[in-house]
Amino acid sequence: MKLNLSNLRFLLTRKSFISQTRAMTQNPDPKPDPSKVIDDLLCSEQRDGQIEETVDAVAASLGSPSRVLSIDTRVERAWAHWKKLGRPKYIVAPMVDNSELPFRLLCQKYGAQAAYTPMLHSRIFTETEKYRNQEFTTCKEDRPLFVQFCANDPDTLLEAAKRVEPYCDYVDINLGCPQRIARRGNYGAFLMDNLPLVKSLVEKLAQNLNVPVSCKIRIFPNLQDTLKYAKMLEDAGCSLLAVHGRTRDEKDGKKLRADWSAIKEVKNALRIPVLGNGNVRCIEDVDNCIKETGVEGVLSAETLLENPAAFAGFRTAEWVSENEEEGFVDGGLDQGDLVVEYLKLCEKHPVPWRMIRSHVHKMLGEWFRIHPQVREQLNAQNILTFEFLYGLVDQLRELGGRVPLYKKKEIDTLTPQESPQRI
Ligand SMILES: Cc1cc2nc3c(=O)[nH]c(=O)nc-3n(C[C@H](O)[C@H](O)[C@H](O)COP(=O)(O)O)c2cc1C
Repeated sequence: MKLNLSNLRFLLTRKSFISQTRAMTQNPDPKPDPSKVIDDLLCSEQRDGQIEETVDAVAASLGSPSRVLSIDTRVERAWAHWKKLGRPKYIVAPMVDNSELPFRLLCQKYGAQAAYTPMLHSRIFTETEKYRNQEFTTCKEDRPLFVQFCANDPDTLLEAAKRVEPYCDYVDINLGCPQRIARRGNYGAFLMDNLPLVKSLVEKLAQNLNVPVSCKIRIFPNLQDTLKYAKMLEDAGCSLLAVHGRTRDEKDGKKLRADWSAIKEVKNALRIPVLGNGNVRCIEDVDNCIKETGVEGVLSAETLLENPAAFAGFRTAEWVSENEEEGFVDGGLDQGDLVVEYLKLCEKHPVPWRMIRSHVHKMLGEWFRIHPQVREQLNAQNILTFEFLYGLVDQLRELGGRVPLYKKKEIDTLTPQESPQRI
């Protein structure tokens, strides 16, 4: 079956949007659930304790911490660092279980200019070697990189941060997680109720790390509170601030629009680089967000999960509006291609199977809606193998119903015959 944009849109409107369990809700301090143990295994059997760049390797010193620097010097350094990184505009947002190394590399191939790791739990990170080796891997191409932690104890956070600083460009503090698990663990957006603690976390890192500290926040319902909060972070030593334009209670990003005007106000109030987050569904949204708010760059999460090529100008049919249809063509790339590329990256850079499973579900979501029996096969498969997953893509192709990604005609459009590798 060959689908065109219109009948695909019909299928899309019928869909009840599957909410793959948000990885963020996953307990970072989990009690082992026997049924999950298999998916927690890395996708390579031969590890020999050697993750390509494990965090236990020797630390390197990158400069001097900003112990007693004036605000002017710190701001100057913050900008010098940002410029040295090439002023990235297109950035992969932190996503628990989803912004892991192979996914970051896939997004980078398709236009992402920097990326965040998934949130890492600072206490577990300091205590558990297995957690460190499984949850944080990197390689030399994986830059610029933000390594994100959640924390509520400055000493523990520093200990965790010290382990990763040789491998990243920022150590980031998650101040935005709104999930119940964060309330119970007293971290993420629930630290908005304890700003002195937030201040001490930022100061501790800024005064003792050799890499800059960044923070990712949500906004308060009241703009003045948001601005006071952002200023406090800057004064405490934060070198870059990412602002998700939704409040702690606005959890459904699909339904609730992010408030770009609040992001703009924060940008105007601060002197350090500021990034925006929320409402980015395609590359044009990034440019609009930058234009409207003045931020240096934009983080995207949900959009990239479905379409890791979004920063290269590709759109899923869902985001080609009806009045734009004429201007878009089949971009010569589809989510099956992207899954295959992702799996190859996973073969090279092993990660737990649960992450791979989650990405395959999200990237092939549209195809599974057309051929639900193939999704059932994936769900029934307790032990995944690469052979099985490549076979799944082959099966979908044989069944037909390719779901292309679209590109604007004028943007260096690929013809369907051209290999996606060429972008
Ligand atoms: C699967 C998933 C996992 C996430 N995990 C994190 C996380 O670890 N740390 C964090 O700061 N935000 C996390 N978020 C929030 C995103 O980084 C982002 O702020 C939010 O999804 C809004 O961006 P979007 O509109 O582009 O999706 C997660 C979001 C998703 C969808």
